[in-house]
Amino acid sequence: MIHSRITGTGSYLPGDPVGNAALIAAYGIESSDEWIVERTGIRTRHLAPPGTAASDLALVACQRALEAAGREPNDIDLIIVATSTPDVIFPSTATILQDKLGIANGGAAFDLQAVCSGFLYALSVADKFIRSGSHRRALVVGAEVFSRILDWRDRGTCVLFGDGAGAVVLEASDAPGVHATALHADGRHRHILSVAGHLHGGQPFGDPFLRMDGQAVFKFAVKVLAEVAEEVMAAAGKTADQVDWLVPHQANIRIMQATAKRLHLPQEKCIVTVDRHGNTSAASVPLALDEAVRTGKVGAGDTVLLEGVGGGFAWGAALVTL
Ligand code: UT7
Repeated sequence: MIHSRITGTGSYLPGDPVGNAALIAAYGIESSDEWIVERTGIRTRHLAPPGTAASDLALVACQRALEAAGREPNDIDLIIVATSTPDVIFPSTATILQDKLGIANGGAAFDLQAVCSGFLYALSVADKFIRSGSHRRALVVGAEVFSRILDWRDRGTCVLFGDGAGAVVLEASDAPGVHATALHADGRHRHILSVAGHLHGGQPFGDPFLRMDGQAVFKFAVKVLAEVAEEVMAAAGKTADQVDWLVPHQANIRIMQATAKRLHLPQEKCIVTVDRHGNTSAASVPLALDEAVRTGKVGAGDTVLLEGVGGGFAWGAALVTL
């Protein structure tokens, strides 16, 4: 039986960290460091300089993941980029990334749009490709430049997000790495977090910025993250005490703490990067995973519960052993 396994991780954050006070001053936001830290846990985030696109961030994250896996770009036969802030409408960010990596082997490459749960969706899809036998080595990427879709006059959203990319190399393996994945969506809730504007005839129509009903999103997130975690553990035949680490989507420290509590997981088992990265949407889970691996917290043989939730509404989880 073919399984899929994560063999390398990588990530990239652009520029220097921007603290709450500096952000507030730069954009004239009616807010305070105290409010942001108390309500979200966020202290700093990274913002991509003008001209930097999601594929630029993804490129470095992928190079680092490939190096960690001991692989060359041309070993890769599948690239999935989870992003809601693609370089252009088309071609896909994945094909742009494929070119930047110097891959010319004609492998598959495509984008996947599931907003903050995008990496979980991409990992699940890549796992299914590999287990089917059609592909052997994938780059699964989350890459975002959310700063491009923020309305700096909307203090309820602009202080929350950051830019970055994370990637894993996922390879065919005899032993299970990815034990189970679970994906869900409920489009009835699509209005509580959206970018409703669109292009028509070359002109932007409607509101091009991210809008969110924060409290509605908060309540929904806490509920479904615990449910999907239970589902994926049951599917894998594992219990919470067999989970070494929880790597949740990094949106708000209070959501992460509430999820860990509902799952009866000690807070120390929860990987936290939201304080330094903010919410990087599809990039947040692979960014947090890579940081945990590189700092030596998470190591080979550890069982890790990954999960994400966001616009759509869409959510998902994966249980993996590294
Ligand atoms: O990645 C997708 C998932 N996204 C999320 O998970 C985000 C989920 N939601 C949240 O994290 C929280 O709901 C927020 C951090 C967005 C907001 O926190 P909250 O505790 O739910 O605050 P609130 O929306 O109830 O607002 C409380 C007050 C309001 O003022 P009034 O009406 O009480 O006078 C807001 O206008 O805080 C005000 N406020 C702010 N004040 C200072 C909202 N944003 C700010 C701000 N600085 N940046």
